[in-house]
Amino acid sequence: MDSRIPVFYLLVISIQILVVAAVTNTQDYGALLALKDNWQNTPPSWVGSDPCGDIWEGIGCTNSRVTSITLPSMGLTGQLPTDIQSLSELQTLDLSYNQGLTGSIPPSIGNLKKLSSLSLVNCGFSGPIPNSIGSLQQLVYLSLNSNNFTGQIPPSIGNLSNLFWLDLAENMLTGTIPVSNGTTPGLDMLNNTKHFHFGKNQLSGQIPPQLFSSNMTLIHVLFESNDLTGNIPLTLGLVQTLEVLRLDRNSLSGSVPSNLNSLTNLNELFLSNNGLSGPMPNLTGMSYLNSVDMSNNTFDVADVPPWFSTLQSLTTLVMERTRLQGQIPVNLFSHPQLQTVILRNNQLNGTLSIGSSYSDQLQLIDLQNNFITGFRSAGGYSQELILVGNPVCLETGVTENYCIIQQSIPTNPTPSNNCASVSCGSDQISSPNCNCAYPYTGTLLLRAPSFSNLRNLTIYTILQNSLMNSFQSHQLPVDSVSLSNPTKNLDDYLLLSLEIFPSGQDHFNRTGISGIGSVLSSQTFKPPEMFGPYVFIASLYGYFAGTKKSSSTGIIIGAAVGGSVLVLLLLLAGFYAFFQKRRAERAAKQNNPFASWDPTKSSGGIPQLKGARCFSFEELKKCTNNFSEASEIGSGGYGRVYRGTLLSGQLVAIKRAQQGSTQGGLEFKTEIELLSRVHHKNVVSLVGFCFEQGEQMLVYEYIPNGTLMESLSGKSGIRLDWMMRLRVAVAAARGLQYLHELANPPIIHRDIKTNNILLDERLNAKVADFGLSKPMGDTERSHVTTQVKGTMGYLDPEYYMTQQLTEKSDVYSFGVVMLELMTARAPIEKGKYIVREVREAMDKTKDQYNLQGVLDPTISSGTTLKGVEKFVDLAMRCVEETGAARPTMSEVVKEIENIMQLAGLNPTAESASTSASYEGASKGFDHPYSNEGLFAYSGAFPPSKLEAK
Ligand SMILES: *[C@@H]1O[C@H](CO)[C@@H](O)[C@H](O)[C@H]1NC(C)=O
Ligand SMILES: *[C@@H]1O[C@H](CO)[C@@H](O)[C@H](O)[C@H]1NC(C)=O
Ligand SMILES: *[C@@H]1O[C@H](CO)[C@@H](O)[C@H](O)[C@H]1NC(C)=O
Ligand SMILES: *[C@@H]1O[C@H](CO)[C@@H](O)[C@H](O)[C@H]1NC(C)=O
Ligand SMILES: *[C@@H]1O[C@H](CO)[C@@H](O)[C@H](O)[C@H]1NC(C)=O
Repeated sequence: MDSRIPVFYLLVISIQILVVAAVTNTQDYGALLALKDNWQNTPPSWVGSDPCGDIWEGIGCTNSRVTSITLPSMGLTGQLPTDIQSLSELQTLDLSYNQGLTGSIPPSIGNLKKLSSLSLVNCGFSGPIPNSIGSLQQLVYLSLNSNNFTGQIPPSIGNLSNLFWLDLAENMLTGTIPVSNGTTPGLDMLNNTKHFHFGKNQLSGQIPPQLFSSNMTLIHVLFESNDLTGNIPLTLGLVQTLEVLRLDRNSLSGSVPSNLNSLTNLNELFLSNNGLSGPMPNLTGMSYLNSVDMSNNTFDVADVPPWFSTLQSLTTLVMERTRLQGQIPVNLFSHPQLQTVILRNNQLNGTLSIGSSYSDQLQLIDLQNNFITGFRSAGGYSQELILVGNPVCLETGVTENYCIIQQSIPTNPTPSNNCASVSCGSDQISSPNCNCAYPYTGTLLLRAPSFSNLRNLTIYTILQNSLMNSFQSHQLPVDSVSLSNPTKNLDDYLLLSLEIFPSGQDHFNRTGISGIGSVLSSQTFKPPEMFGPYVFIASLYGYFAGTKKSSSTGIIIGAAVGGSVLVLLLLLAGFYAFFQKRRAERAAKQNNPFASWDPTKSSGGIPQLKGARCFSFEELKKCTNNFSEASEIGSGGYGRVYRGTLLSGQLVAIKRAQQGSTQGGLEFKTEIELLSRVHHKNVVSLVGFCFEQGEQMLVYEYIPNGTLMESLSGKSGIRLDWMMRLRVAVAAARGLQYLHELANPPIIHRDIKTNNILLDERLNAKVADFGLSKPMGDTERSHVTTQVKGTMGYLDPEYYMTQQLTEKSDVYSFGVVMLELMTARAPIEKGKYIVREVREAMDKTKDQYNLQGVLDPTISSGTTLKGVEKFVDLAMRCVEETGAARPTMSEVVKEIENIMQLAGLNPTAESASTSASYEGASKGFDHPYSNEGLFAYSGAFPPSKLEAK
């Protein structure tokens, strides 16, 4: 490639750059100056006269125009000036977590016609929300929560037809919820909005029946803690998309509409602390309901309703002071996900029986102040039970534990990562990796989580991993996060203290803080559904020390404009170098990506790839920090696996074959061709490969929660309960079914084992590692004759003896995986083979086939695992001697789905807890874990003037 360009050409390019990119539009500059004059504590980099060119922190530009202002947690004080209206190209404005920003929002904000995201979470703004907000036609995301806004909800918000997210919670808003009437708009027109978060205001009047219709697509309606009165409108039952409904802590009255149970997608229902009356609501048929709280209403005296026995998805049932009478049905306690039952202050009577097959997640039964006369527990229930105030405890001399109120033990969700603890000086805190640092802290507030057992540490691990994953994919300098002090507050929100630790140094700079702040304030971070809607409230960060004082680029450009030829030349040289690099990079990309493919090494022609990229060695070296030890996440006979972050921000796992264990070029090519064709949500997908400088590397999507083996052995900190294991089983089976039946050509995996099943962000299982995979040609549809490969313990004996590989060999290995899921034992442990152990222990005439001795004690102690008999039947069919006697993977999938249904799980649900999705489906919202979300912090902080072409 010719690396020389004529000098005049270079000059032309460079001058164009100076003209196009380095000069901020004067109107925008004027507006930013007004912000700077009105605010204290603006970033020290706000000097010079060219915010786009000089890279003012927090200001993002496209060409010469300011398109984003991202300044969360900067400690700004002052007011929002009217002049902000001049930023006519502004798309994102995020000033969250600056409590010192006060005064009212100027009505001129309505002139920011391009604005699509406005976040002012937890600032000190007051006064009315201006009606002009309704002119922001492009607005998709609007969060004004946790301020001091007063007055009414502006009816004009109804004009925001693209609005996806509307959060006005925790203000002092009054008046009624506006609906349209022909002349004035209203919120009933927001048929694209998914989130109405209005909790903790002083909204009053009736909930207008007109607000809801079948045209709405709402998933979260949060009206809790207001002064709403009147009936719950019948129209609410029309909003079929609804997943979370909070109407608690109002003054609602009348009876609950009888069509409430047509909301079959509902996961969370809070009607507590109102004046509701009439018959006890009928929740029959709401099969995905996780939490119900209807406490403190004056329903008619009623017997325990039949839905207590039938709502299999319940995690939390709270019905204090609801005039319930009669006996609690024993099968309530066997709902597989049940964690908490609080039925205090009712008229429940009879003998309490928990039965022997109660949920293994059950942790609290509080039945204080009822008329219960006896207690029976066949299964030795040992978690918290409170019967204080019942006849069973009233006789003198009763000493049972359940007649004494116990102090509950606090949990410490984040243990340190196996490092020697350190003691830190001054305000520093020890991170989970035992480094002293100044963390960015705050409170994560979950407004309606689907779980209530706060002692289940797995929950915190999932949340931590999911936060880390989000920060890393946005290339934020985060070392680790820690969660502590889980508490439910009086509003029934779950509060968690969150500490975010810096990587590389002991404090964050402004760029880091505002990047992290905006990921949380703009809901770019989307936790798994079980956590429900969240808000992050940041504490002031006072440790920006170490930030560079001057902006060197600013000085250079200032001098150049002043006429210093030398500096201008330097600058041009800089551009020249930059452009050379860019040009070379672009040229390299445009070239045949397989240029380095070496056909002489009997590797055949260029690989036929679908969607996989060819990476240079340099690129992978850079994104793994020169294959540093810190980025290593696994190793084996073949070599090592590294975690890396690509330039795009995507997290990847890079499998690097070590010298000596590389395959032949042909084998490697076959593998990447095969892998690149595989696309299924339960199969780990290939992002690309590297075949250069004698290296062979495979680049996969990064799966954050490790291998199934690590979870079963307790190594990863994730404890899978029986329900989660069923989900893992069905997901892995679907991945395998895809490979066998839908991939083209069909693929036999040949190495199915728990180490090759990975758990993603939401604990969905994905089948990984096709190192040994075999595609099947048309001529060999029934079997492939090969040299026997695989892993001891999982190996199909028939294949071993005949060397004829069929799909049924994978089915055998999958049967072994199923046995591991039940027992958490390695296939061969202390010389014992799991298949034989289970077969010998099995007695079909006995309860749970007499397998209690071999089942994993962490999930089975004292409880019945629903469907375990059918599960083991299926596993034993998979490990039959002959392939012909084993089921196909589709049969396996179907059978596990049946078992899930028996156990009360929705086999089509994706996540670890709820059925429907919490991701934004409306336009503009990407997949929640992609790094290209509309509100991603990308580019906003700091922008590169050169990239902004
Ligand atoms: C908001 O209003 C409350 C009550 O009037 C007051 O205590 C609080 O200081 C105000 N907050 C701010 C940031 O102005
Ligand atoms: C619609 O409502 C507005 C304000 O609530 C009121 O001023 C107007 O008269 C109403 N129009 C009709 C046609 O009812
Ligand atoms: C639903 O939307 C359609 C147009 O898409 C409209 O004609 C109809 O009146 C709307 N229904 C309700 C109840 O708002
Ligand atoms: C929302 O309402 C508008 C106008 O009534 C209609 O054109 C549009 O199709 C509706 N969208 C949905 C998702 O119902
Ligand atoms: C409750 O609702 C279900 C389903 O809609 C219905 O079959 C049942 O009869 C209702 N029960 C009562 C007591 O109204």
